[in-house]
Amino acid sequence: MAMIDKDTVDRIFSAIRIEEVVGDYVSLHRRGANLIGLCPFHNEKTPSFNVNPARGIYKCFGCGHAGNAVNFIMEIEQESYPDALRRLAKKYGIEIKERELTEEQKIQQGVRESLFVVNEMARDWFVDELHNTEEGRNIGLAYFRERGLSDEVIRTFQLGYSPERSDALSHAAQKKGYKEEYLTKAGLCGKNDRGLYDRFHGRVIYPVFSLSGRVVAFGGRILKKNEKMAKYVNSPENEIYHKSNELYGLYQAKQSIARENRCYLVEGYMDVISMHQSGVKNVVASSGTSLTTGQVKLIHRFTENVTVLYDGDAAGIHASVRGIDMLLEEGLNIRVVALPDGEDPDSFAQKHNAADFVAYIEEHSVDFIRFKTDLLRQEAGSDPVKRAQLITSVVQSISVIPDLVVRQVYLQECARQLGISELVLGNEVIRLKQGRMITEEERRRREANAARLNGNRQPEGENGRSIEENSKETKFDIQRQTDKLFREETNVLRLLIKYGSEVVYPADESGDEVTVSDVVREELTTDGIKFNNDLYQRMYEEQIAFRGTQKERQRHFFYHDDPDMARLSVHLGTERYVLNSSQKQQYGTVEERLEDWTYHVIYELKLAVVKQLIQQRQEEMKTADETRQMELLSEIATYNEAKKQLSEELGGRN
Ligand code: UTP
Ligand code: MN
Repeated sequence: MAMIDKDTVDRIFSAIRIEEVVGDYVSLHRRGANLIGLCPFHNEKTPSFNVNPARGIYKCFGCGHAGNAVNFIMEIEQESYPDALRRLAKKYGIEIKERELTEEQKIQQGVRESLFVVNEMARDWFVDELHNTEEGRNIGLAYFRERGLSDEVIRTFQLGYSPERSDALSHAAQKKGYKEEYLTKAGLCGKNDRGLYDRFHGRVIYPVFSLSGRVVAFGGRILKKNEKMAKYVNSPENEIYHKSNELYGLYQAKQSIARENRCYLVEGYMDVISMHQSGVKNVVASSGTSLTTGQVKLIHRFTENVTVLYDGDAAGIHASVRGIDMLLEEGLNIRVVALPDGEDPDSFAQKHNAADFVAYIEEHSVDFIRFKTDLLRQEAGSDPVKRAQLITSVVQSISVIPDLVVRQVYLQECARQLGISELVLGNEVIRLKQGRMITEEERRRREANAARLNGNRQPEGENGRSIEENSKETKFDIQRQTDKLFREETNVLRLLIKYGSEVVYPADESGDEVTVSDVVREELTTDGIKFNNDLYQRMYEEQIAFRGTQKERQRHFFYHDDPDMARLSVHLGTERYVLNSSQKQQYGTVEERLEDWTYHVIYELKLAVVKQLIQQRQEEMKTADETRQMELLSEIATYNEAKKQLSEELGGRN
């Protein structure tokens, strides 16, 4: 994927007016220096969503969402950082220069772009044929209406019609100058001895959208029953269409999936569209095939909760059971719902409104593993061979669940359901898991990475032992100590973003002025203190290196080109220090005593670091040999001395 060059990013940042960006989604009213409105990220009746035009940021005091205009677009449109930037560039009429590409990338990029362009031309043409030609209206539109679709939903999904005549599109496209090469590569046209012909002719058209709303493919449905012809024709795979990485309807569903924190999974185009029309918009289709890993990961970007809807008949059940282990493996929570006999999501949605539909789902959905166990148990009856297969199959599903505790709960429950001992089931899980050691390893690595990125702490046990192996008490202490340290690190970063460029000591004959960030840099680099997570460390390094006024500092970090850093900066920059009562006595307000407060925050961090160092050594003492113990004791003594000094500096509280 090509990147946007720095220059363009800067131009977008300086064009952005946050009140205009947010104003496209939220109705805002002025209140003092801020604008306020109802938060789009959670349900509320009284407005707690604030926009600060001067600082270019937003913050909801109800749910805590905060960030700059780009963060806002990423959140509300559920888009990636580059896509959000492109959207803003378009809004402000800024031309995007993509970063320099290699020749090969340019050609690749050229092919991809040409395919999008051809598809989007065809989409417009199909839509036009549907609404603005007699054949389109009489056949295509009449068909959709007969199936109960409203004009609105037909527009939302940009449904279209490809006329009977077998070269209508080929003809029109070539006349407009589109190249045969791309028309055939996109699968819109085929070629025989008489020339180009339309792959989708005589069908109604369902465009398939990428996450950012570009057209990657089409499905075309035949209108009359015809045993000899496939019901649907679909675009072939090419540079922009990989069937296994797309989910039909995700573009239209992603916002409500994130908002509802749940995704409904169905099979067909019509299921998605009818449910959307009835008001249940958080729905996507796997398009008739079983799920792929790529699709599962796609869902996981928006929610952890998936409910699979399937037709009440046996074939429907078995089709939907396939691929579900993959959802479990990804750590998703899965429920399944059987619709009443003879109904599919499409027909059911046509008969019910959203509230009734959701009520039905809530009442009838069951946890997947319980469901699978039950289903197989009924089918196996008392046949011992089938029962053995059943156990393996259920255990297979349980063994892929990443979370140990969740896995344990399921094991207990299944053992009870099947009337066999938990031990037998547990052994079976271990056996299956051993076959997957490598992927487990991989998963742990990925989890650790993700946790680091999210700013979570993954406290490690001492001496390479895992924390579970350490005593409960120690685990508690270490956790508490780690949390404390994390809070102190946060305080330092907050001090920097809020006051980093404020002057602590004015310039005089002995030297230049000294700012808060100068003091922090001097104090912390001499002690070689490193922040514990990657994002924090990067933010710290950039903060202490930054030169400029306080206003420039905030602008730089609030509109940082790393969106995670921007979001963190806004969070910290808009939070107040909550002082405890003794701190209040000591400092009054932070602003009044910036010098004292700066040292206070620094010493608190140092103290937390020293305490952790002591604790680590005390832990190590438990298993160290005698020589090592002596070393450790002397180190502990040194740290205790430091601890005493710091405590005194802090007013003897610690
Ligand atoms: P369905 O037969 O359930 O289709 O196949 P549907 O969407 O409900 O369509 P209607 O209600 O008959 O109009 C489920 C999905 O499987 C894929 C399509 O993506 C379809 O939406 N499919 C089905 C094909 O790709 N080709 C086919 O021939 C049939
Ligand atoms: Mn159907």
